[in-house]
Amino acid sequence: MLNLQKKKSAPQTKTCIRRIRNKLQNYNQEHVLRWWKQLDDIQRKELLQDIESIDFELMKKLVNKYLERKETPILFDSIKSPEIIKIPGTEHEILRQREARKIGEQCIRDGKAACFVVAGGQGTRLGFEGPKGAYPIGPISGNSIFQFHAEKILKAQQKYNVQLMWYIMTSKPLHKQTIKFFEDNKYFGMDKDQVRFFSQRMLPAIDKDGKFLMSSKHEISKSPDGHGGALFALRESGVIREMMKKGIEYISYFQVDNLIVKVLDPVFIGYHVKAGAQMSNKVTPKIAPSEKVGAVVIVDKKYSVIEYSDLPEEHMRDKDKDGSSKFNAGSIAIHILNTEFVKSLTEKGIKLPYHIAEKNIPYVNNSGEYIKPKNKNGIKFETFIFDALKFAKNVANIEVIRENEFSPIKNLTGVDSVESGRQLYMNRCARWLKEVGDNISFDKKGNAKIRIEISPLFANSSDDLQQKDLSSIDTTKDIYLV
Ligand code: UD1
Repeated sequence: MLNLQKKKSAPQTKTCIRRIRNKLQNYNQEHVLRWWKQLDDIQRKELLQDIESIDFELMKKLVNKYLERKETPILFDSIKSPEIIKIPGTEHEILRQREARKIGEQCIRDGKAACFVVAGGQGTRLGFEGPKGAYPIGPISGNSIFQFHAEKILKAQQKYNVQLMWYIMTSKPLHKQTIKFFEDNKYFGMDKDQVRFFSQRMLPAIDKDGKFLMSSKHEISKSPDGHGGALFALRESGVIREMMKKGIEYISYFQVDNLIVKVLDPVFIGYHVKAGAQMSNKVTPKIAPSEKVGAVVIVDKKYSVIEYSDLPEEHMRDKDKDGSSKFNAGSIAIHILNTEFVKSLTEKGIKLPYHIAEKNIPYVNNSGEYIKPKNKNGIKFETFIFDALKFAKNVANIEVIRENEFSPIKNLTGVDSVESGRQLYMNRCARWLKEVGDNISFDKKGNAKIRIEISPLFANSSDDLQQKDLSSIDTTKDIYLV
């Protein structure tokens, strides 16, 4: 029996290899089979599967785009600053915000909103093995970033008396680890059924001649296709269909690395609904023209985000005719997307543009040696979710208070780091305690003098704290409320 199977499969494999070899030759990538003779059966099988999973036509376009430097130039003169719903100051604006909150709360109660986190990026800058969301960020508890987000969702669930779905986009290298992390932590108290994982697509990385880089003798170096890949992944995984079946209309999108993000903000949802928007943004004034955040702008009457890496020094301070700064609306990567919008974009086959990023990518050289390059040797291709803005009929841009909603954790130390993210989180806890009458001291930089951690399950706002008995708190020592 075994022998028969062997005899049968041998010619098939030969034909298969011939076909694949031809394909690779057609696309100028035959070098990926260079070590074929040295590979064992399992490695050969893996390599063939790897090759079969590649969209060669797409890669051909991307390689050409890179080789011909076909990036569309940004026409800075035609850019305008966006319309923004400012933080309310007047009585009228306060009423408008109250109305938005009411609308958003009703949507959440009616089960029309779900949480969606993009967690497919590799945490290389953090120097952390494993999913970024698993990073032990709690200043006292050491709880993970995922746990903080999960507890915020559970708290919202209690408040609105509805079961909320959490969609988590991972990428291939992180997928199993992410699921295992949730399983090991018993889903942080959530029902397994309300957490839905799906994985984004991976694309080959190329060298400067357009050849696929090899990460080992039998593996093509691949990286996630950017968070814009969420659109493709939402469709391919069937998640967008599942969402619509459940009656979900609004996707509350956030990045895993923002510790203090409001995972489901009724005010934001309400403004989005009131504006009849299909996709919306939260923005905050940049702290400096060179801050590493994208800027929400208008290009050709359409909303768009100019990424910080695409904004040259000489344009950072450009002004509109009325004197206002063109690039001051910092995008904090928090969006609402309508499920109907995502469905129609993906059904129409709309493709987001690919951005080129030059990186140091470890690879196996022609002699079979594994090289960790010191300089940028390779190119990755990524799409960005905010490029979908230009397809939206209406967009609402909501200004928020930075220190209440944005603490990005990109690096281990310094700017936008584990250190600063933790501090911003503790400062927000301190402000909440102060608002309810506790005597919390801050240093000259505005940092709380003690360590404070409040589990989102205990309180996720100063309003939540109002309802608690905090009389036994000693504000001279670390405070951990759980
Ligand atoms: C990002 C935004 C920037 C924004 C800033 C706010 C981009 C290109 N830029 O910058 O406009 O102002 O955040 O903090 O996103 N991710 C995936 N799959 C991928 C790539 C990324 O899921 O293929 C996820 C990451 O897990 C992370 C998020 O997207 O949660 C952001 O990715 P990152 O590379 O850290 O973007 P930034 O350059 O920090």
